[in-house]
Amino acid sequence: MNGDMNRVREVVRIVTAHRQREGAGFMVRRPLPSNGFDAADPFLLLDEMGPVDYGPGEATGAPDHPHRGFETVTYMIEGEFEHEDSAGHRGTLKPGDVQWMTAGAGIVHSEMPTARIRDAGGRVHGFQVWVNLAARDKLMRPRYQELAAAAIPSATSEDGLARVKVIAGAALGVTAAIATRTPIVFQDWELKPGADVTTRLSAEQHGYVYVYEGAASLGDEATLSSGGQLVILGAGCAVRLRCRMEATASARLLLLAGVPLHEPVARYGPFVMNTEEELVQAVHDFRAGKFGEITRSATIG
Ligand code: FE2
Repeated sequence: MNGDMNRVREVVRIVTAHRQREGAGFMVRRPLPSNGFDAADPFLLLDEMGPVDYGPGEATGAPDHPHRGFETVTYMIEGEFEHEDSAGHRGTLKPGDVQWMTAGAGIVHSEMPTARIRDAGGRVHGFQVWVNLAARDKLMRPRYQELAAAAIPSATSEDGLARVKVIAGAALGVTAAIATRTPIVFQDWELKPGADVTTRLSAEQHGYVYVYEGAASLGDEATLSSGGQLVILGAGCAVRLRCRMEATASARLLLLAGVPLHEPVARYGPFVMNTEEELVQAVHDFRAGKFGEITRSATIG
């Protein structure tokens, strides 16, 4: 069994993202769920928002809507999003910031580009990932974690060619500041040409790589994957990430991993539960106002 301790995960499948409209009409690149690929336990959804250059008055987002039974993770690369929710949280996500929202029993929130970007236009690029909650956590009290870019642990490889922002999990000797309900890895890697780094990933986790810029070579077999592709990694204890020496640009990718819940998934729009009955209850509770509402101060004048 000794050899398994260092077994490098190889690519078993590559899913190319499709484009889709979300919320009030913004475009996303979505590899999960997509045609023929919806089982990435414990991940439910991966959206890449943009990159898009909005003109004045063009930017849209997702006005008030509910969630129950899982977590939404929003990570901005460029642009600004403002959010507010029925638990009284509000804030602005700037480039590099992350919001890890545990919807749990239920929340109503709004996610919109800031007024500045809606009015003047600008570039928006970011991610939203849905992380499923185990049955025991689906009705937990909503929890909200927000980290500014400067507070996200990061590290650089000894040769300076690989850099990672550790939003969840651990890599290159640094550990995330975000708390997760089950062991989750959520890392933003930048690989300069010539980079070759191997990072450990616990054998019980399912592992995924989403390349969003440039091209990366994965595993000892150096399977090439490029922008907009979600890679499903096979069994092993380590992930090897490389950017070819002759590449003209850095590769940028998200490394995602989690311990599968192995529970039934019942899904209806913004509600993800274990059974149909629980979905009916979720819709009922939302309509009855049990998720609360966003309190907005009245405009004076
Ligand atoms: Fe949402």
